[in-house]
Amino acid sequence: MEAYFFDWLNMFFRWIHVITGVAWIGASFYFVWLDLNLREPPGWKKDKGIKGDLWAIHGGGIYEVAKYKLEPEKMPTTLHWFKWEAYTTWMTGFALLTVMYYWGADQYLIDPSKMELTQFQAIGISLAFLAGGFAFYEALIKSPLQNFPRVFGGILFVGLTFAAYALSEIFSDRAAYLHVGALIGSIMAGNVFFGIMPAQREIVRAIEAGEKPDEGPALFAKLRSTHNTYFTLPLLFIMISNHYPMTFGHDHAWLVLALICANAAFVRHYFILKHQDNHQPWILAVGTLALFAIIGWMMPMPANTDIQVSDARVLDISMQRCASCHADKPTSAMFTAAPAGISLETVEQLESYKPRILTAVQSKYMPLSNLTNMTDEERAEMMSWATEVK
Ligand code: HEC
Repeated sequence: MEAYFFDWLNMFFRWIHVITGVAWIGASFYFVWLDLNLREPPGWKKDKGIKGDLWAIHGGGIYEVAKYKLEPEKMPTTLHWFKWEAYTTWMTGFALLTVMYYWGADQYLIDPSKMELTQFQAIGISLAFLAGGFAFYEALIKSPLQNFPRVFGGILFVGLTFAAYALSEIFSDRAAYLHVGALIGSIMAGNVFFGIMPAQREIVRAIEAGEKPDEGPALFAKLRSTHNTYFTLPLLFIMISNHYPMTFGHDHAWLVLALICANAAFVRHYFILKHQDNHQPWILAVGTLALFAIIGWMMPMPANTDIQVSDARVLDISMQRCASCHADKPTSAMFTAAPAGISLETVEQLESYKPRILTAVQSKYMPLSNLTNMTDEERAEMMSWATEVK
């Protein structure tokens, strides 16, 4: 019964997390695009303090958008703020982390072959990592380094890569990736909560008090917002990566993460420049070549097919190591239905999932946290059987 409610909570929070995440990143993409596409306005608008304007057509109507350098002539009665997209994405993400990786720590967070942790210890390390990583970023952005974007970016990248490496030594492969994502997401939400919102409140306060708003906080908010822009594509990659054991299950998963994320941020850079009419297609070309290089480098070694493994033997291994979960009616108390819809109780079923079994077993993603104690010999046998072409 517990497993049934676990699945529902998991799905519910994931669903809302995706919905709010779409709203947040959608708004973020839109405003970055908007800001960079503002063009010089006509003189009469400039006289009103407008620094850029833009015209667009969408949904059957024409829109005129104007951005003020600082304060408008008079404050409008309704001013729309964008913050709940970010806050709710973070809150549902944290709820999902709690359900899946804290409640389900034995299956998803802890990997005894890396570190024998109790559920309590694992959760403690996870929370300490997120809090520590967040504090590191906040200290960095408040330091004079904020004036040196490239050095800043470099330190952040090295820090996150180191975190990915350290986490891969402590948690399950999948949880290691997820934690880097959770940290990036927390930094992004923190940028909104601790940086952008206070700056905006200050601007509004000053305008309402009839003072000249200070440009400093606005520029600082812009810096945080720019960081968020470069985080979006890497973060989205980490969110979907848990469907692809070839990434988080790679022998050098932390390096895979670093390379793919660096490449994704680089590609984001192309779009940022393009919004400003600065076309640099070479960035996309280099990004694509780099991706091919990564794909080539990551290619798994073919399994040793010298060992002859009969169908009966592989079914035997599966019944022992896989079918407690992968069955129409799992005997494992953790599942009420076959995980990922994959039952592995007959040779026909094993046959039909060969390529996915190969990736899952080779990357050691399966058996989940090796809860069924699969041996290296059995792994080699299963891989060899799954590699055979009939
Ligand atoms: C303790 C339970 C458990 C055991 C034992 C287990 N699995 Fe899984 N398996 C899962 C879960 C849970 C998922 C779904 C993971 C997810 O959410 O993506 C899964 C997913 C898979 C997938 C799909 C992965 C993908 O996304 O392509 C394959 C293939 C797979 N398992 C094969 C195996 C094989 C082969 C074994 C035995 C060697 C095995 N599993 C043992 C729980 C288990």
